[in-house]
Amino acid sequence: MTKVKNLEELVKLRNKLKDKIQVRTITEGNDLVARIRVAMGTCGIASGAKETFEALISEVERLDLKVLITTTGCMGACYAEPTVEVTLPNQEPIIFGEVDSKRAVDIINEYIIKGKLIDGVVPQNYQSI
Ligand code: FES
Repeated sequence: MTKVKNLEELVKLRNKLKDKIQVRTITEGNDLVARIRVAMGTCGIASGAKETFEALISEVERLDLKVLITTTGCMGACYAEPTVEVTLPNQEPIIFGEVDSKRAVDIINEYIIKGKLIDGVVPQNYQSI
């Protein structure tokens, strides 16, 4: 995992991620197979959300899927970072927790492509437990 040591490195990282986000935004449209939001709050970044984001982009590009990947701020689940929200067409969003690079690839291949839930779903409120 790359460690950010100063403000200059943080700005470079932000700009690099912005470029990737813009590339992914181009695919926005009605034929999307999924939308993915990666939580990039402080706790998410500290837990490896950058690597998760890059793994998602690499797998989506490798499979040439129409998936919109963006970042978002804190989703309120520090204990489960990195967290990723996935929304399939006409379905409620699902948040997955502790999404490392391997789980990111599994989310794409198992949940997005096959529609099978995988471990690590984070309840969105206490009423849903
Ligand atoms: S600060 Fe960690 S989820 Fe909000």
